[in-house]
Amino acid sequence: MSARVLDGTRLAATLRDELHPRVAAFTAAHGRPPGLALVLIGDDPASHVYVGSKRRQGADAGFRVDIHEHPDTMPLEDALALVATLNADPGIDGILVQSPLPAGMGPEAARRVFDAIDPAKDVDGFTAENVGRLVQNRPGLVACTPAGVIELLVRSDVRIAGAHAVVIGRSDIVGKPMAMLLLHRHATVTIAHSRTPDLPALAATADILVAAIGRPGFVTPAFVKPGACVVDVGINRLTREADVVEFFGAASPRLASFRARGSTLVGDVHPAVADVAGAITPVPGGVGPLTIAMLMRNTLQAAEWRVSQG
Ligand code: GUN
Repeated sequence: MSARVLDGTRLAATLRDELHPRVAAFTAAHGRPPGLALVLIGDDPASHVYVGSKRRQGADAGFRVDIHEHPDTMPLEDALALVATLNADPGIDGILVQSPLPAGMGPEAARRVFDAIDPAKDVDGFTAENVGRLVQNRPGLVACTPAGVIELLVRSDVRIAGAHAVVIGRSDIVGKPMAMLLLHRHATVTIAHSRTPDLPALAATADILVAAIGRPGFVTPAFVKPGACVVDVGINRLTREADVVEFFGAASPRLASFRARGSTLVGDVHPAVADVAGAITPVPGGVGPLTIAMLMRNTLQAAEWRVSQG
């Protein structure tokens, strides 16, 4: 391994430390802490883990965190009514509806529920209002994962202005906002996806390569220009030992931890990339911890903006 490892766990701790005095000042000035409502519908196991982490970290940071947990039989109309109630609650500054919503709610459910959130409380940055503000580079609430990636790049002194950034993945949650944020920092940005011809050759022109595909180990050394900064947004769970051996080799300590737990988390970037890249984000411990730290920052920002607007 030659690449510098960009430590997201450490930066997330720094971001939390930076929030503390602001949270304390807000609470003292307004007689209440910033409030975050987490809506969890259905029984997706990963969503339960993520929402549990968000609740814990929010409470540790001094926020009021309410969890609204509902079964996957919740009708869409009831979910919309819950969002309307939270929109009207003066003690709630941020609303996060955990995705994915249960398939039984219908194909339009996520769009309709996210559309119902007051943009001033949209701490995910998913509403059309906040996406439009991002595109126009105006103040607004920005999707947490790409915002965390920018924070990591900037604080690790990775040069963005003038760089060629290739973002693999075009999701509304990561790929598109990631591309916008890099553009606003003066990168030349290419968004690549499953229909992009000769993806490895294109990716290998990138100074900054962001992988947000959701396929374990998809980005191999053939995708990487020597010295490039490779950001791994993927969080994939390997459950077969043969896959873990292929990833890390038979002598890796990761194999022992896999055997103890029955699974291990890996990114979209193959570990062999560390021999080619100049800098990489690890999985776990890279982008993941930053997403929750940025959620807290967005919630505090939303609270400060709301009180300043009366
Ligand atoms: N599911 C996976 N990532 C996210 C996220 O950033 N926000 C929400 N609301 N749901 C998610």
